[in-house]
Amino acid sequence: MTDESQLNLFDITPFDAPPDPPSFNPELIPTRADIPIPPGTYTSVDELSIPCNQCHRCGLGANRTHAVIGRGNPQAPIMIIGEAPGQTEDETGLPFVGKSGELLEKILASVKLSTEKDVYICNINKCRPPGNRTPTPEEMAACKPYLLEQIRLVNPAIILLTGATAVKGLLKEKRGITKIRGQWFEWEGKLYMPIFHPAYLLRNPSREKGSPKWLMWQDVQTVSAKLAELGLK
Ligand code: URA
Repeated sequence: MTDESQLNLFDITPFDAPPDPPSFNPELIPTRADIPIPPGTYTSVDELSIPCNQCHRCGLGANRTHAVIGRGNPQAPIMIIGEAPGQTEDETGLPFVGKSGELLEKILASVKLSTEKDVYICNINKCRPPGNRTPTPEEMAACKPYLLEQIRLVNPAIILLTGATAVKGLLKEKRGITKIRGQWFEWEGKLYMPIFHPAYLLRNPSREKGSPKWLMWQDVQTVSAKLAELGLK
């Protein structure tokens, strides 16, 4: 290459044209755990499906069929937060659609609450842990910004935390679920109540007074009464 043609290569780039502005691509931003997801990143809960289905903030993304974001009414007064998707949820992309979900629907229906109108359901983790193991603290932390965005966008008055993992994911509370279920916790203007996980109720079918199922029945009635007290039912 002659000296002159080498110089010509530099002429190809016009100096007076500014480069294209770097376009904001929300699909790419949060998918590494070292990149924070600031509140306000998303404008709707549906939008979360895009980054979550591309997400590798933790290792769970490697095995997912679908990220499981949420279902129900995105303007509901009650949000129910579970642990993580199981096999059926991973296959369908919807939370609580297996046996636990069936029981959860029945529990809600017993106090005339419906997922179409009154409830939005989601999980601490959006991807299924292998063999349905409990998500690790690192996996929970990696997924937490998505959950905080869901809480901000749905803006429920009441948040029900089903089971110990959901409690660990959001409350600074050392006591076990059997000690704190049915109690109200207040944080940033919202009411939180830990309740038993439906899978635990499936393993403990007794309905006797004092049994987990009986206690759940007390808790959903308390929730229903609170909703009425807040004028949201
Ligand atoms: N299905 C979910 O989506 N979450 C759970 O915690 C259990 C079953």
